[in-house]
Amino acid sequence: MSANQNTPFTPPVIAIDGPSASGKGTITQLVAAQLGYHYLDSGALYRIVALAAKNNNISWNNEALLAELVEQLDIKFSDNEIYLNNNKVTEKVRSEEIGGGASEVAIHPALRKALVDLQHSFRQAPGLVADGRDMATVIFPDAKLKIFLTATAEVRADRRYKQLAAKNKSADYQKILEDLRQRDTRDQQRSDAPLVQAPDALLLETSNSNIAEAVAFVINAYLANAKSN
Ligand code: C5P
Repeated sequence: MSANQNTPFTPPVIAIDGPSASGKGTITQLVAAQLGYHYLDSGALYRIVALAAKNNNISWNNEALLAELVEQLDIKFSDNEIYLNNNKVTEKVRSEEIGGGASEVAIHPALRKALVDLQHSFRQAPGLVADGRDMATVIFPDAKLKIFLTATAEVRADRRYKQLAAKNKSADYQKILEDLRQRDTRDQQRSDAPLVQAPDALLLETSNSNIAEAVAFVINAYLANAKSN
């Protein structure tokens, strides 16, 4: 029997962190698809909690009730759709209001702790690409590759504005920019798991590059990393 047969296989993780509207979601999904890996959108979990709290009249400030609420939620991701207690909530969780709520509920340590096991459960063979704010620093500190993906607030606001306009939704660039800055500050300044580049993460600044270039950067870095190990 070889030594390998006794060593449990731990699926590899690529952790992609960064601020709101940095393109993390799209890039992470494309990298996962290209590698045939699973995908975790950790921000969606905080968004679902904000939505469920709103539906249950629980304040986004009520740490104890929010942590309790998490235990009662049945969350499913399937075919690019998000289900909460068997109801499709994909559009609702993507709203600006719920995004803001997510960054409010995310400051509470008890809630963050209540979501840890669920996030770990996504780590399945052959591998996982996870996006969020604390994937590299807290949830998957042993990730094989860590990327900190960012762009200037103005570029991110412009991308968000164009996304909304493409969906014929009313959008005010200045308001989007202000909301993004407010969310960045809240995410960077909270005491538990703040948004920060892990010391061993590669910086990927996408203000002047497109999605395909960013995806290629991540895949090349991952393959180069795998070769050298
Ligand atoms: O990435 P997304 O915009 O969907 O995340 C919504 C909010 O959830 C973020 O502004 C952040 O406050 C919170 N979040 C977090 N930790 C994560 C992912 C998201 O605190 N890993």
